[in-house]
Amino acid sequence: MSHYLITGGAGFIGSHLAEALVAKGERVRVVDSLVTGKRQNIAHLPSVEFIEGDLADLDVARRAVDGVEYVLHQAAIPSVPRSVEDPVTSNRANIDASLNVLVAARDAGVRRVVYAGSSSAYGNSASLPKVETMPTAPLSPYALQKLVAEQYCQMFTALYGLETVTTRYFNVFGPRQDPSSPYSGVISLFISALCEGRRPTIHGDGGQTRDFTYVKNVVDGVLRACHAEQASGRMINLATGGRISLNELFHSLRDLIGADVTPVYGPERAGDVRDSQADIGLARAVLGYEPIASFDEGLKDTVAWYRASTAAVGRS
Ligand code: UD1
Repeated sequence: MSHYLITGGAGFIGSHLAEALVAKGERVRVVDSLVTGKRQNIAHLPSVEFIEGDLADLDVARRAVDGVEYVLHQAAIPSVPRSVEDPVTSNRANIDASLNVLVAARDAGVRRVVYAGSSSAYGNSASLPKVETMPTAPLSPYALQKLVAEQYCQMFTALYGLETVTTRYFNVFGPRQDPSSPYSGVISLFISALCEGRRPTIHGDGGQTRDFTYVKNVVDGVLRACHAEQASGRMINLATGGRISLNELFHSLRDLIGADVTPVYGPERAGDVRDSQADIGLARAVLGYEPIASFDEGLKDTVAWYRASTAAVGRS
């Protein structure tokens, strides 16, 4: 049994990692400020040790890493538009807190830190798919912050010998992604609108594309990144390698849910990337990663989860 810390473990992706590690019989601690995470997300995992705290406080980071072997650093204030509106708060959560996690992990002798990077680092690359060797071109404070923390990880590996791996996520979706904020991921927003018979908003012409990645794939990739021998010091795309437009996404979800609404088209969002699609060759080579769940399967599971959770709320 190994001991894992999941920062942001009460959030969407973090709670799936906690669930997978508990199922493997590992010892899990979660630290979460509960700014975007929810206790409810890990309520079904009673063996998980929970610390409520803000990692921008170094003492919290030190307490959280004490005695652990692996740190899965997922805590962040996600969302491009939220960072455009309030860059200072997201900087604190995405850069200051990440540096504290690295310092605390270095001092505590942690075996490896796996950091949740973002595809936003690439910006509008000249070509697709996006390969790790491409130059970065962040278009928003969020993208820049994710990139800075990723570079801190690589620097900590080079300077202090702390093993780090950055997994660059591409638009992750799935159960427990919270649709309740205007900053929520687009799939959660579209599903909740369609299930309630509301018209979702498409920002821009809907021709922008994303490599939407079902959370099961990300969990598998991150757990591989903890142990893969050649992974330390690298950043590695975790995605499916495909891409679909927002218009296509809307139609797939409308068919799946059986809703009879049309989208509202609004202005393009500031800081938005036009196209996003990953090359997953490095993940295959270094992690032995292969997507284990398709986009369609992920969409079906996610819709089923939203339906079940709103039915449960309606009953309570
Ligand atoms: C970006 C990152 C992603 C990261 C996420 C964190 C890229 C390519 N991806 O996602 O890796 O995990 O930030 O938040 O940079 N949209 C609508 N209607 C809505 C909401 C969104 O049309 O109601 C559009 C957005 O304008 C965008 C797309 O849907 O074009 C996806 O938006 P969102 O889900 O917020 O994620 P990204 O900003 O792409």
